[in-house]
Amino acid sequence: MTTATAAPPKPSIKMPRVKAQEPMFIAGKWVDSVSGKTFPTLNPSTGETICQVAEGDKADVDLAVKAARKAFDSGPWSKMTAAERGRLINKLADLIEQNAQELAALESLDNGKPYKDALTIDVPLTVKCYRYYAGWTDKIHGKTIPVEGPFFCYTRHEPVGVVGQIIPWNFPLLMQAWKWGPALATGCTIVLKPAEQTPLTALRVAALAQEAGIPDGVINVVPGYGPTAGAAITAHMGVDKVAFTGEYTTGQIIMETAAKSNLKRVTLELGGKSPNVVFADADLDAAVEGAYFGLFFNQGQCCCAGSRLFVEDRVHDEFVDKMLKKARSRKVGDPFAADTEQGPQVSQEQFDRVMGFIDVGKKEGAKLLCGGNRVGSKGYFIEATVFDNVTDEMKIAKDEIFGPVMNILRFKDMDEVVQRGNQTYYGLAAAVWTKDITKAHRLANSLRAGTVWINCYDVFDAAAPFGGFKMSGIGRELGEYALTNYTEVKTVYVNLG
Ligand code: NAI
Ligand code: MG
Repeated sequence: MTTATAAPPKPSIKMPRVKAQEPMFIAGKWVDSVSGKTFPTLNPSTGETICQVAEGDKADVDLAVKAARKAFDSGPWSKMTAAERGRLINKLADLIEQNAQELAALESLDNGKPYKDALTIDVPLTVKCYRYYAGWTDKIHGKTIPVEGPFFCYTRHEPVGVVGQIIPWNFPLLMQAWKWGPALATGCTIVLKPAEQTPLTALRVAALAQEAGIPDGVINVVPGYGPTAGAAITAHMGVDKVAFTGEYTTGQIIMETAAKSNLKRVTLELGGKSPNVVFADADLDAAVEGAYFGLFFNQGQCCCAGSRLFVEDRVHDEFVDKMLKKARSRKVGDPFAADTEQGPQVSQEQFDRVMGFIDVGKKEGAKLLCGGNRVGSKGYFIEATVFDNVTDEMKIAKDEIFGPVMNILRFKDMDEVVQRGNQTYYGLAAAVWTKDITKAHRLANSLRAGTVWINCYDVFDAAAPFGGFKMSGIGRELGEYALTNYTEVKTVYVNLG
């Protein structure tokens, strides 16, 4: 075999159009912030500014909430039939699909994820999510209840009202869909704050929503920082519900603020430290593949990352050998290159945080088998990193790292791994690899987590709920379950006497 092979042709990627200064979207208008302030959003591959974005704060949130309230109370949205709402959501899904390449490129540029992942994973899941919820609009119904006396009693599931939605930077398009899908399906109106690191696709989708015909004021997008714009949404007396995805400490602030303002409903999707358990009787190649994907996917920036990888003693060495072959050859680099598997971390802050955890891991005595270093001299790239001999009390085994850092822990038997697997304040996800169905189901029942994958990892579907036990969150997103977070139940008695 010769080594001189021709470079594969670069797929023609339609690069997104970005204005030097991107406005915010309130009441169907593209506007600057009230203060006139802007903030930069960066390209994490270079650390350079992509563009400036209107920086929202309290005054902008106020305007957005007013617009959302008006659209909820008296706009065309509130008079529209459920089926018509569904048609508009489907139209939005179609437009996202038609603009898939541009959206994927914008997501990749702003977030750093490989373009091919954005195009083949993020965008299709986003489209599917909107289509799924478009189908729900005219199927949200109450019950008739046989009460005592001459009364006809029924319930209505009404939209909760104006919802504030605060999303993170790891899956900007998809988190927007998880939030907007059920909100639009139930007839709520929206004030969304995208993450300050990745505001661009949220604004682009807002433009597509307008093009789809979703009435002015139904959705409003206010970019800005957490402690200013985010806090203003959470504290606002005109917001009926807040939905948040991010760090659990932020979730705690949000819940406290919601409680102290108007007791707005709160749903939280927080992080995890998910156990991924590989038994000796597993299909080892499949387990290696699944554990590799389940940790390194999206630069390790997944709330459900399998970040405590428990491997049964008997197959530990073989498993580690196989894993190292994959991790050592992981291609880290330009998100737009066709063969890139891993792009940069999203920001300098996240880069520093992950590198800090790697340092801690070394100091705690975990065995660094590969990686651990920065890649290149600009941007926020980190090598795929594997620690072995990790023990339960180490910080790297307890805290969410949110980067490409795998921790391998050994175990001997089922009871031990159940006990250790549950020894965390998180409970977002878990996985088990075994050919023994009894073991698989016992583990699935025993692990305290919102999602358990058996012989697979990171399987998502808009129809199936996702969310956390314990400090990984409150409420469920996706599926029919998400609808309950966006509706209030009204009981009506009619006197038939
Ligand atoms: P974060 O929780 O601070 O940010 C998420 C969102 O919340 C952003 O839109 C941010 O502007 C907003 N926010 C921040 N402070 C707020 C406040 N006081 N009031 C209202 N909104 C606020 O997370 P951050 O700092 O970006 O990342 C830190 C760590 O959080 C990560 O290393 C990771 O461990 C975890 N994280 C978990 C995510 C998940 O999917 N569960 C997503 C992003 C981060
Ligand atoms: Mg950015």
